[in-house]
Amino acid sequence: TDQPRPRISVVGTGYLGATHAAAMAELGFDVVGVDVDPAKVEALSAGKVPFYEPGLPELLVRGVESGRLRFTTDLAEAAAFADVHFVCVGTPQRPGSNGADLRYVEAAFEGLAQHLTHDALLVGKSTVPVGTGARMAARVREVAPAGLRVELAWNPEFLREGKAVHDTLSPDRVVVGGASPWGDDLLRQVYARPLSEGTPFIATDLPTAELVKVSANAFLATKISFINAISQVCDKAGADVTVLSDALGHDVRIGRQFLNAGLGFGGGCLPKDIRALMHRAGELGAHSLVALMQDVDEINMWQRQRVIDMAVQACGGSVLNRRIGVLGAAFKPDTDDVRDSPALNVAAGLHLRGAQVVVYDPEAGETSRRMFPTLTYGTSTEEAVTDADVVLVLTEWPVFREADPAKLLGLTRPGATVIDARNCLPADTWRQAGWTYRGLGAAR
Ligand code: UGA
Repeated sequence: TDQPRPRISVVGTGYLGATHAAAMAELGFDVVGVDVDPAKVEALSAGKVPFYEPGLPELLVRGVESGRLRFTTDLAEAAAFADVHFVCVGTPQRPGSNGADLRYVEAAFEGLAQHLTHDALLVGKSTVPVGTGARMAARVREVAPAGLRVELAWNPEFLREGKAVHDTLSPDRVVVGGASPWGDDLLRQVYARPLSEGTPFIATDLPTAELVKVSANAFLATKISFINAISQVCDKAGADVTVLSDALGHDVRIGRQFLNAGLGFGGGCLPKDIRALMHRAGELGAHSLVALMQDVDEINMWQRQRVIDMAVQACGGSVLNRRIGVLGAAFKPDTDDVRDSPALNVAAGLHLRGAQVVVYDPEAGETSRRMFPTLTYGTSTEEAVTDADVVLVLTEWPVFREADPAKLLGLTRPGATVIDARNCLPADTWRQAGWTYRGLGAAR
């Protein structure tokens, strides 16, 4: 077609926005990314990704060098430039509440609408409580200059950190809520490549689109807490949860993914999303979901306590002045993200109980130090385990899985215990090397 390609803006350049902007440029669109943080804008403009995300630096550099991708702090500039605006700002948990803080979403829609100079489609990508899209649509209609066609749609994002580039360029599905035929057509142009490769396009209303997103995360969280609850039964009964998960996973109705028992879920999404859903369901009087999400959250938080208790037990009842090596700080491998990280939570909990904790993570050292400056950080696996009484594996980075247990045991205090809180190590190899090995729900 010789229709001009829509120009794109992306408001908010965190994990989601930076990846989306770079991916859109990779697909050949002219893109401007907007952020209120000048340091972020400066870094991204120089082709530097301010966080660890495999594959993203290459994409960003290609976009910036091609001239198709630029960044600014000026929302008005973006409003005047683009035809399709993606709102990718954060919706963190409100302090003292389970609800989501929507101030950044509100500011982005209002700011864009106010400064529009031509017809535009405003697209929400942020994860929001159901009902937000309709509220934003009403607000945008009030604020936008008269005489322009300004519409709103919701297009939730399902990308995983660590696989953000792949998930953005080849999504499982594209969900679009509340788009008119005009908006629908614009978004089909934006997603033409994945759609041509067979990605399903699901057009629906605003509340359904908003709810698809939070239901997906709630379901994933429920799967994890389910298997963690089962792993407790495994511990009591002497069964092996990993074998159990493998066996369950052969049933295609269940599936093997997200059935890894361990320290549980963290990060910037799952924990706050299930709490926001719990909160919103409560407001709507949907009590079954409130109760379910409460249990999922409680089981998840209890896993952290369970691992702290295991460490205390391995130290003979008190960790005071005992050396504990902590392997892993990121909330999962392939990221340096430590938001609501179960690993750092456990490390800090042991530190508070008087243990001498040394933490090592291959990528999240810097971000951890910023979050918990009082913890001690090592620069290698060896450094973290040296003189340790107990070693905790809290994030399943491949370097830990591939470490040589015999070599590491030579560095620890005699008779050291390893607590494999992600059930990721080859247990037999570690036992044969002389370690006392403990997993979660792993048969002794
Ligand atoms: C999650 C969803 O998977 C994405 O689809 C979604 O787009 C994203 O949230 C979001 O809302 O932005 P992410 O937070 O990057 O993605 O991380 P996940 O890969 O989902 O892992 C979440 C947590 O669950 C991690 O702490 C991980 O260690 C834990 N987990 C995962 C388990 O404890 N067991 C498992 O079997 C799987």
